[in-house]
Amino acid sequence: MSKKIVIAIDGYSACGKSSTAKAVAAQLGYGYIDTGAMYRSVTLYFKEHNVSLTDPKGIKEALKVIDIRFKYNKQEGVNETFLNGTNVEKEIRKMYISDAVSDVAAIGLVREAMVEQQRKMGKKKGVVMDGRDIGSVVFPDAELKIFMTADVRIRAERRQKELFEQKQIVNLEEIIENLRKRDRIDTTRAESPLVQPEDAKVVDTSFLTFEEQVGEIVKAAEKTVAAQ
Ligand code: CDP
Ligand code: CDP
Repeated sequence: MSKKIVIAIDGYSACGKSSTAKAVAAQLGYGYIDTGAMYRSVTLYFKEHNVSLTDPKGIKEALKVIDIRFKYNKQEGVNETFLNGTNVEKEIRKMYISDAVSDVAAIGLVREAMVEQQRKMGKKKGVVMDGRDIGSVVFPDAELKIFMTADVRIRAERRQKELFEQKQIVNLEEIIENLRKRDRIDTTRAESPLVQPEDAKVVDTSFLTFEEQVGEIVKAAEKTVAAQ
């Protein structure tokens, strides 16, 4: 059996990381871990339990009881996120979570807890993990690092379509503003900011079809595995 690798996919918001990562994982028979869903779940918990972002004691207590798991829904063919046993997949994609998540993800205590879990999830390799700090912090030794980017308007149009399919009608300018704001917080925060790792392969998805970008990454993965 060929050697399994870790594929780290980082990049800006809504440029196609998670859907591409999912498809790449399926083609390679790898596991897929959506680390953004973990930060979104923590945000939901903080909101539901009124955890203040300026109260380290409250944050530590909350992190002790937060349990995030991913389960594959065979019927729908999708991965779903569970927070303390409840399926939160739909809730964590709503705009009120998107508006708050980057401030939660900038908290050092939150990142420490999430990174520890992510390292455990990827320990056995054979995983595709997407996020903002996977190639730089979580798995700096990942055998393949991808940095995804795309024009902000194109990203916003894609996200708007996704939200529409989930029966949420959101103004394009509001989405552009949300993406810009999150990109700014994610790239300028003190704790593991979004950076383009020097050894990452850059994939600009603006003018690629979904199949093209998946194919490009699968090809890069096969080449990396063959070189092991
Ligand atoms: O899918 P989308 O690009 O909208 O975002 P996401 O991947 O679900 O991540 C939501 C937010 O979580 C990001 O805007 C980041 O603030 C944070 N995040 C992070 O800080 N580190 C990660 N490894 C993944 C997400
Ligand atoms: O994870 P991230 O926020 O980077 O992106 P995503 O949640 O995968 O959302 C990207 C959306 O753009 C999905 O609905 C994709 O199907 C769509 N899309 C894409 O990723 N790449 C293209 N070339 C065209 C559309």
